[in-house]
Amino acid sequence: MAARVDAPLKVTGRAKYGVDNNVPGMVYGYVVVSTIAHGEVESMDVTAAKSAPGVLAVYSPFDPLVLRTPTMPIIGQTWVPLQDKAITYHGQPVAFVVAETFEQARDAAMLVEVTYRELPALTSLEDGLETAVEAAPGHVSAPPTLTVLAAGVESIEDALAESPVVVESTYHTAPQNHTPMEPHSAVAVWEQGSLTVYSGNQGSDLQAAELAMALELDPSRVHAVNPFVGGAFGGKGRTSVPAFLAAAASRALGRPVKASLTREQVFTATAGRAATVQRIALGAERDGSLVALRHDSWCNTDTERSFIEPTSHGTSREWYATRNLAISQRIVPLNLPPTTFMRAPGEAPGSFALESAMDELAVALDMDPIELRQRNNSLAPPGNELQWSSKHLDECLRIGAQRFGWADRSPRGHTDGDWLVGMGVAVAMFPALRFPASVGITLRADDTADVETSGADPGTGLLTVLSSIGAESLDIPADKITPRLGDSALPPGGMSGGSTATASTGTAIMAGAAQLIDELLAVASAPGAPFAGQEVSYADGRVHGDGRSMTFGEVLRAVGRPSLSVVGSSAPGEELTKHSFSSFGAQFVEVRVHRLTREPRVSRMLGVFDGGRVINHQAAYSQLAGGMIWGVSAALHEGFEVERSGRFANADLAGYLLPVNADIPDIDVHLVEYPDTLHNAVGARGLGEIGTVGVAAAIANAIFNATGIRVRHIPIRIEDLL
Ligand code: MOS
Repeated sequence: MAARVDAPLKVTGRAKYGVDNNVPGMVYGYVVVSTIAHGEVESMDVTAAKSAPGVLAVYSPFDPLVLRTPTMPIIGQTWVPLQDKAITYHGQPVAFVVAETFEQARDAAMLVEVTYRELPALTSLEDGLETAVEAAPGHVSAPPTLTVLAAGVESIEDALAESPVVVESTYHTAPQNHTPMEPHSAVAVWEQGSLTVYSGNQGSDLQAAELAMALELDPSRVHAVNPFVGGAFGGKGRTSVPAFLAAAASRALGRPVKASLTREQVFTATAGRAATVQRIALGAERDGSLVALRHDSWCNTDTERSFIEPTSHGTSREWYATRNLAISQRIVPLNLPPTTFMRAPGEAPGSFALESAMDELAVALDMDPIELRQRNNSLAPPGNELQWSSKHLDECLRIGAQRFGWADRSPRGHTDGDWLVGMGVAVAMFPALRFPASVGITLRADDTADVETSGADPGTGLLTVLSSIGAESLDIPADKITPRLGDSALPPGGMSGGSTATASTGTAIMAGAAQLIDELLAVASAPGAPFAGQEVSYADGRVHGDGRSMTFGEVLRAVGRPSLSVVGSSAPGEELTKHSFSSFGAQFVEVRVHRLTREPRVSRMLGVFDGGRVINHQAAYSQLAGGMIWGVSAALHEGFEVERSGRFANADLAGYLLPVNADIPDIDVHLVEYPDTLHNAVGARGLGEIGTVGVAAAIANAIFNATGIRVRHIPIRIEDLL
């Protein structure tokens, strides 16, 4: 297995993140955020701030930086700061102070006096449910409202009424933030009418395109650089507030500008995961076969309705076979920060509801919850004729049950001293997608090769994937490959999001390598070349002709060429008309609840996943175990505490609870590896997001098994188990 090629740079501190760049003449920007959740900025007194030492400018809605609102494919419309006086959430950027030093900018920011005209704020999803509206079709993340009914069935209500066993419950999930280790930040440099921005993000070509639109520049004049990203998780798909502001301020001032959100500002001046309310009704035959499934969802969105958490989308539409299915999705615009993609958007909160409901159905049927899930295994998504390309969910459940010791589980848990012990299970799914991607490949006369794309490695391991798939496709050792990414000057790699990067860029590498080898063979057998007029073939990094062979470097040297390059590209295509594609998994959790203190602890975890071919087992383990830890966090720790005013009571890493090592047991990850070449030539379907899916439900189900208490909201706290 290949070691992570970026590991030495990261562990020795040599990896250069956005704000690690220092440029001569650089000045510092500091963001000021609103202290009300709804209303208008009436006036702003910046006199004291402007005359403070070192201050160069104070930008605000009264003296804005010129920025247009960009709209991009995949991620939709992005909100740009300081463009109007309306306040729609607490912690919204309202001013940007630029000074010679960071301390001067920060101190001056404290001197900005803002006067607001305040309006009543709506800050709780529960309070807004009555004003919910249907999610508009065609929205960037909006799931379709969908009803599939068996012949002769008039409505989902009829189907439920005729089901021998019905369970119906409502589930709540908390709003969250990605909280990446690297705060959203940027260094922007203008030179001769061109802009370079160093800023961690999920795709440098998208970032460059967004900035070009916002600043009304020709895209060729914007260069986005992000070789290292300190965590993204969907929260760095769009250009960040500091990147927009630093870029525009740098243009206005003619100085390089560095800006970063503070840790507290990361919680509001970015975008997070919506709160959700989900009502699920399941109707089943006595043998467990689903007759009807209804999943109604509500989530908050920002007042621009820029993102809808698609909870009903992945879960109910794709999870189980059912004759009757009805999905709806409603949204409630709230005075909270914008919402956006966050690790397994839709599937993470959606699976908490659906997989808890399945556990409730198993209890109602007095049936083993694994058997119930196996009974409803689907060959295709309901209402879709295209069968799954490759699905080994049954095997995941079977292997998992054996590895985890499921046979020892009693329907009412067991006790171990003062601990009530329970086991829970849930299914995980995440759709297999890919996006268009291009990769540049170069063979060099010194027998090395470059594999380069603009795409990002937000910690997932893409840099290592470039090296491994490059080596395999060119049939040379990985140490001969120099992988590069995170630079918009490289061939466009698209976004590292949606668990797509390995499939997208890997396929582009394979296509490019095949093309490059053809070109090499043409060069080697051309008139005057070493293999002129011969039948030639390529293997082991060598061109083989009549009775002899040469390395590709020797061939290039012989013909006097320093290098040979191609750009390989791939995009989703015909396969989409032939199959449905998803990764699958089974999550097993053992929970201990203390008899007296009621504290819940996760004591064992196992995830068994079916994600196609695995390119790097270390990276795959890290992604999946990391995702499972997110699931523990969602189930037992994480969530915003929103005050009535719309202020987050816990917008810092002290109050916004995340698990620490003591909260996490040994995590067992097992992979069934069936390359899915119907999806893409590499055979990998993506493992980035599925790790977190289902974990919160498995934990809630294990808590029920241990205590008999069914908690239908996350996070689950001690007070829920009294
Ligand atoms: Mo993600 S939410 O695809 O980074």
